[in-house]
Amino acid sequence: MQPKIFAHRGASRHAPENTMDAFKLAYQQGADGIETDVHLTKDRVPVLMHDERVNRTTNGTGYIKDYTFSQLEKLDAGTWFSPHFAGCRILQLDELLEWIRDKPLYLNIELKNNKIDYSHLESIVCERLSQYRLLHRTTLSMFNPLSIRRLQSLNQPDGLALLTSSRIKNPVWSANQAGANALHIKYARLSQKIVDACHRRDMAVRVYTVNKPKQIRRCFSTGCNGIFTDVPQVAVEYREKFTN
Ligand code: G3P
Ligand code: MG
Repeated sequence: MQPKIFAHRGASRHAPENTMDAFKLAYQQGADGIETDVHLTKDRVPVLMHDERVNRTTNGTGYIKDYTFSQLEKLDAGTWFSPHFAGCRILQLDELLEWIRDKPLYLNIELKNNKIDYSHLESIVCERLSQYRLLHRTTLSMFNPLSIRRLQSLNQPDGLALLTSSRIKNPVWSANQAGANALHIKYARLSQKIVDACHRRDMAVRVYTVNKPKQIRRCFSTGCNGIFTDVPQVAVEYREKFTN
């Protein structure tokens, strides 16, 4: 099986991360899937943003959890990246699900519940995925192992991945213990040993965030199941060369 190429926050090198422009560009560039990050607003709307606060990627300030979605929608999520993207908005999860449902794309939704453990985030996201009939091509990933436990009792998607940073001593064991069927590791932690150990346990292993051609090639050579990249076009071209 060829490794899958997930556009990390969309094609985020060339368009503002987690916006519709970044997702559309990733699709045009031939990505196999989209990776995005989700938080909950004050009125419990799942929204797509990496940080807990809006400061870095919009013209606003403060925490997502303190905004209603209609307040968040008014922020500009594009100008920080380039004036060309002025007027880009923060998306709610439903907008991505509506767009993706008729496209042959996988979806990786990262639940951003390691710093703020949003109550009901898991059930709200699973309910939306079920409504849009996307459970079979979605992986939910998170750094918070308790969140994976909570997902076990829900109508959850096919993929449940534990994300691990460089600090975790035994990532394969941790993912297994948490009840995940996939491990998402930082590129710095990639080794053939980890890939083989995951595969022995029937666990998928994917690597983040891989942008340099040399790193992309190394990931592919280990037989990992996928990568997350800001530059899907580069990875697609490289995969074509590498596998032909
Ligand atoms: O899902 C892979 C990657 O996105 C995890 O880290 O901080 O970029 O969300 P981060
Ligand atoms: Mg992420």
